[in-house]
Amino acid sequence: MKTALNRVPASFPVRRMDYNFNDIPRYWCNDEPSLTHYFTGLSTLFPEGESYFVRSVRALRTKAKENKILDTEIGAFIGQEAMHSKEHHAFHVSAQQHGLDPESLEKATGIILKGIEKVFSKKWNLLVTVGLEHYTAVLVVSMMQSVNELMTDTTIRNLWLWHSIEETEHKAVAFDLYQYLYGNGLNAYIPRISVFTFSLILITAFSTIYQVVLMKRDKQLTNFKSWRNFFSFASKQYKILIPKFLEYYRFDFHPNHTDEKALVATTKIKLRINDSSLLLS
Ligand SMILES: [Fe+2]
Ligand SMILES: [Fe+2]
Repeated sequence: MKTALNRVPASFPVRRMDYNFNDIPRYWCNDEPSLTHYFTGLSTLFPEGESYFVRSVRALRTKAKENKILDTEIGAFIGQEAMHSKEHHAFHVSAQQHGLDPESLEKATGIILKGIEKVFSKKWNLLVTVGLEHYTAVLVVSMMQSVNELMTDTTIRNLWLWHSIEETEHKAVAFDLYQYLYGNGLNAYIPRISVFTFSLILITAFSTIYQVVLMKRDKQLTNFKSWRNFFSFASKQYKILIPKFLEYYRFDFHPNHTDEKALVATTKIKLRINDSSLLLS
């Protein structure tokens, strides 16, 4: 008989978080609008974006049920992404106090993603998730290494660092599901890189548009000093990020070819995250 004792646990936990975003300053990143609005814009993609990831994985999960390890990892992936959606949404609700209405951008993201979901096949929707999971896995390394230090508010910094840890932990789940269902031959590779190219253009376009919208709503569109700071930050970051994004185009690419365990361990210490009780439950 199958019991909870012989069930194989996932390789990473689902942590229940409940941040209090009541006292977030107007400019919590680098004490200025352009960087704050860039990261707020990116954040507004998460609640609906990560719900879409969950739906795209769920739509094909039953086809991989016989792989118990993968199925358990998928369960934990869904748990983590659902928690990210909830906490980023809570941040946007509290950010309404500054009058910039980030929730409206969340809603716009939802409408666009539901349109994509309708037009694309289940395989292609999964591939958007696989590609954007790589995009996220690359960004969060920079976040854990240095970018978090620009965030002057501790709660917001902790939100991004906790999210970064978990994106690293589950970075291979959607990819493994895709490979399990469709293999790793040319027929799997061509759609994988095509949809990634599309997804990369989409997320770059939307994070830029949302940043501009927030700058306009904040009457900071002509704050050239702040824009200059952002472009200096972005050009340094993209020099590091672009080669890592391009790794995805390798025929033998797998998310676990990079190892971030030491960085995750340091970040957990910074956040005082102790998983011993979670892993036993
Ligand atoms: Fe996430
Ligand atoms: Fe993720």
